[in-house]
Amino acid sequence: MTPSKNPVGIDAIAFAGPQCYLDMRDLAAARKIDPDKFTKGLGQEQMAVATPCEDTVTLAAKAAQATLKNFDIDPSEIGTLIVGTETGVDHAKPVAVYVHEILGLPSNCRTFETKHACFGGMAGVGTSADWIASGRARGRKALIIASDIARYGIGTAGEPTQGAGAVALVIGQNPRLMNLHLNCIGDYTRQVMDFWRPLYSKYAFADGHYSIQCYLDALEGALADAKSQVDDPHTLNTDSMEACFYHVPFVKMALKAHRRHVELQHDVMNDKALNESYAQRVAPWLTLNATVGNIYTGSIFLALIDFLRRLDPSSEGKNTSFFAYGSGCGASYSAGQVADNAAAWRHLVDPAAQLAARRRLTVEEYERLMHEDEHADDNEATHSDPTRWQLDGDLFYLGTHNHQRVYGGMPKAHMKRAG
Ligand code: CAA
Repeated sequence: MTPSKNPVGIDAIAFAGPQCYLDMRDLAAARKIDPDKFTKGLGQEQMAVATPCEDTVTLAAKAAQATLKNFDIDPSEIGTLIVGTETGVDHAKPVAVYVHEILGLPSNCRTFETKHACFGGMAGVGTSADWIASGRARGRKALIIASDIARYGIGTAGEPTQGAGAVALVIGQNPRLMNLHLNCIGDYTRQVMDFWRPLYSKYAFADGHYSIQCYLDALEGALADAKSQVDDPHTLNTDSMEACFYHVPFVKMALKAHRRHVELQHDVMNDKALNESYAQRVAPWLTLNATVGNIYTGSIFLALIDFLRRLDPSSEGKNTSFFAYGSGCGASYSAGQVADNAAAWRHLVDPAAQLAARRRLTVEEYERLMHEDEHADDNEATHSDPTRWQLDGDLFYLGTHNHQRVYGGMPKAHMKRAG
C-alpha cells in the first residue's frame, strides 16, 4: 500500500450521544442475571438511552455541528451529505435532508441516506472518498454521519447490546486525521437473516449467535478480497497495523473478530500472541464503545475516536485497518494511514466531558421510556416533551403533528415546523 501524493481521508470527526444512560449492573440486577455476563462476557459497562425527543436526526445534527465547529469547517465547503442509518425516521424522506436544513448546507450539496444495517456509514465514507478522488468534488468536502438508535426490546438477549449515538466525519483531500488507502478495499455481500427490522417494528430482531458467525465469515471474505488487491498480502496482517478497528456491536465482538483476523494469518493459533496483539492494537480503543453501547453504523468510528483522542505522535504515518459489518449482510475491509501531525488535533475529538454529563436512569425510568417511545412517532402524540425527560439544549424532536415531524427547542415557545 503506497500512500497517495494527494491523499483523501478523514479530515474531521465528532461524536454526539443522548443525555441519559443505563448502567449494566443495574440492568443485570433487574433481569436477575450475573452482572459479569454483561461486563465481562459482553464487555459492556453502560449503554446510552435515547429519550423520545432524541432521534436519529437530532443526534446526527449535533454530531455534525460539533465536527464543523471544532475543526473550523464552513458549511459552504460541504458538497455531499450522506447519513448512514438503520434507524430511518420516514419511509421516503431521508434523515439527511432534515440535517441539511439544520446545518444550513448549500442547495447544491448532494444529500441522501444509505442503509445496510451497520454498514451504511462506511458505505458513505467509501462513496464520498471515490467522489473526491474522481475530481467531481471540485475542492469541496463530504460530510458523512453515522447515526442510530439500537433497540432490541426489554428482556431480549440483545437488550444489553443496545445503545444510541452519532459520529460525523468530514472526508476531504489532504486530511488532518487519517489518509484512506483507496486502492485496497475488500468487499463482501451475502443475503443472510442474522439481524433485521421489519417495517412494522421499532425493535430489531436478531438470530444472535448466527449473527456472530455471519460477521466472522464476512471478515474472512472481505479480507480475502482486500488481499487480492495488494502485491504483498502481508501488508494487511495485524502485525503491520498500529490499530485494528472493527464494527463493535458489543466489546467482546472485537476480540472475536481480532482472533479470526489473526487466525487467518497463522496456521497455528498462539493464544499469548493473540492476547498481546489484542491488548496492543484493539482493546485500548474500546472504552467509548463500552460506555455508549452499540450505535450500529457509528460503532467502528467510535473506536476510531477513542484512538484519535489519545493519539501519540509516534503513531503518525502508521497504518490502521477497518472492518465494517452490516447484518443482512454487507461488509468491507479497508486500510488507512494516520496523517502527519494528526496528534495535534486529538483534544478536539474527545467526548469525555459530554459522556460525564449524562444522567443515569433507573431501570424503571428506562422501561417507561422504552414503552412511551413505541408511540413517540404516532401522529399528534405527546411523548416528545424535553422537559419530561430533564433534557438540556435547543434541538429536539417535538413529535409528529399534522403527519409532519417537528424539530426545535422547548415545545410551543420555540416550535419550528419542518418541511
Ligand atoms: N460471567 C462472565 N461471562 C459470562 C457469564 C458470567 N456469569 N455468563 C455468560 N458469559 C459469557 C459467555 O461465555 C459468552 O462469552 P463468549 O461469547 O466468549 O463465549 C458471553 O458472556 C455472552 O453469553 P451468551 O452467548 O450466553 O449470551 P446470550 O446468548 O444471552 O446473547 C448475544 C449474546 C447473542 C450477543 C446477544 O446479546 C444478541 O443477540 N445481541 C444482538 C446481536 C449482535 O449483537 N450480534 C453481533 C454480530 S451482528 C452485528 O454485529 C450487527 C449488529 O450490530 C447487530
